[in-house]
Amino acid sequence: MNELAGKHIVLGLSGGVACYKSAELCRLLIKAGATVQVIMTEAAAQFITPVTMQALSNRPVYLSQWDAREPNNMPHINATRWGETHADAILVAPASADFIAQLAQGRASELLGLMCLARPIDKVPLLLAPAMNREMWAHPATQRNLAQVAADGATLLGVGSGLQACGETGDGRMLEPVDILEDLIAFFQPKLLQGRRVLVTAGPTYEAIDPVRGITNRSSGKMGFAIARAARETGADVTLVAGPVSLPTPRGVRRVDVRSAQEMLQAVQPEIAIASVFVATAAVADWRPASASTQKIKKDGSGKPPALEFIENADILAGVAQDPRAKSGALYCVGFAAESHDLLAHAQAKRARKQVPLLVGNIGPATFGQDDNALLLVDEAGTKELPRADKLTLARQLVAEIARRLKT
Ligand code: CTP
Repeated sequence: MNELAGKHIVLGLSGGVACYKSAELCRLLIKAGATVQVIMTEAAAQFITPVTMQALSNRPVYLSQWDAREPNNMPHINATRWGETHADAILVAPASADFIAQLAQGRASELLGLMCLARPIDKVPLLLAPAMNREMWAHPATQRNLAQVAADGATLLGVGSGLQACGETGDGRMLEPVDILEDLIAFFQPKLLQGRRVLVTAGPTYEAIDPVRGITNRSSGKMGFAIARAARETGADVTLVAGPVSLPTPRGVRRVDVRSAQEMLQAVQPEIAIASVFVATAAVADWRPASASTQKIKKDGSGKPPALEFIENADILAGVAQDPRAKSGALYCVGFAAESHDLLAHAQAKRARKQVPLLVGNIGPATFGQDDNALLLVDEAGTKELPRADKLTLARQLVAEIARRLKT
């Protein structure tokens, strides 16, 4: 997807072995539609050549403030603004301990630090993806400098943990390029749900018949995962209760894996007292076998199937909607309806039956497992269609619709 179309990103590299990942990051930024201007420190050029970065970004790379290629000889100004326009962000990846120290002190001895200092601070945000040895990361001086640059307005993207190039294991690895890309895309989303807590259920549930068999459904969980990501991008604190699906957890989202409807209900309950939005996208099984056999059920030779008894699962959404917080509007509940026909009538009926303020209808067979969907929003004011689009686009639109409806 062209998530960064029209965006101009200045990609800064300071010295560190993680520079090898910056080549991949540059490619991902370009693939996402951004134009990328690379600025490197002398130390970064010890780890990866400017030639590689120029080839990937398709633009000359700058290392020195004395670079005479710029007619006014001011690459530190020209990199972030030209005429009335300016860069959408400076992203320094890797940001070394030394570079962060320079930033904290407002030093301008190299082009990259000089450019960061000279940027219009209210127009060109600065994002840092630190990378260093775990001891350097944990050192009080580094932590002090990080706190200072954050106080000065920089956005810290965090670090990964694990085996480091030096052979030690701990915090301080640069985030993977795909994660930095996801964080940058999220950075540009409007912070509509900043400080809110959002609970999302997603995927199918699995109701065991015996240790090897069960009943489930075709829900892929993609819509719910997209909503969790979109909510997180808008600044929300997101808990995603997921049935059995093999989807990657969106960045920054707390995920609780469950299997059965009963487990899903249990995972949802503690969140009800603290969440301000509940989006129920899960395709919860309506029934479960009355008692799951502890041993595999064998054919008995009679040719007859085993007589299974089913009992109804609790309706998680309808139950939450009866909570006093939901009734008072402190917890805004959103239901989903996967239908095969008569979408509007079924969605309206389901909204009334479950007593939720917003019900989102979609045609189940046309969306299960697909990457796109179309949604019909039904609330007290009427209906609104979100036309067919990829699920993340729809999720962002839905989150904006929910944010508009929340009590301030
Ligand atoms: N839901 C729930 N718990 C259940 C069943 C459904 O929380 N036990 C939620 C779903 O997550 C969804 C909404 O209720 O948000 C609609 O679920 P759906 O299964 O489509 O509706 P049903 O109530 O099962 O109605 P029907 O089977 O008649 O379509």
